Amino acid sequence: MGWKAIDRNSPVFEADAEPILSEAVRAKIRLFFDRYETKRAALLPALHIVQNTLGFISWQAMAEIAALLEIHPSDVMDTVSFYTQFWTHPKGKKVITACRSLTCEVMGGAAVLEELKKQLGIDEHETTPDGKYSLMTEECLACCDHGPCLLINEKMHKRVKPEDVAKILADPDNDKIDVERSDLFDPPANG
Ligand code: FES
Repeated sequence: MGWKAIDRNSPVFEADAEPILSEAVRAKIRLFFDRYETKRAALLPALHIVQNTLGFISWQAMAEIAALLEIHPSDVMDTVSFYTQFWTHPKGKKVITACRSLTCEVMGGAAVLEELKKQLGIDEHETTPDGKYSLMTEECLACCDHGPCLLINEKMHKRVKPEDVAKILADPDNDKIDVERSDLFDPPANG
């Protein structure tokens, strides 16, 4: 059996003539360069900046991030594909993440997920036609003693029953959290 050689340096996609990352986004990413010993180390903040700005990280965005950080495009894709938080296609304004691990499962998580699918009219990894919600599942959300749990963006909903789903979806503040965000992904203040 012969091994197929893979060119890790050349991204395979049709690039648009215009860059997808604005100069403002590039400048925001560059602010992290002083924080780390290598540009590569700024990859995660860069991915968060791009996703927060564009809503997802396209192939072209990955290639442009790679050029900015002077790493291979495949290294960017490796990281994007490892973390489920990063999206390679447009996602809804709010992402609902239902726990599919054991504790939530035995407490009725599967019924909650089915009710979510029914009310939203979508399956996992899909987005509602109005772009409001995307639905996904994850392993343990680290809130096992309050299962079944689900996240809407960063807001945790605990002990959710199928009959709660309609009320949760109707609440415009169902993704609002009242704690300060970590500054981990914010650029240094002097930038
Ligand atoms: S099993 Fe659901 S939060 Fe841990």
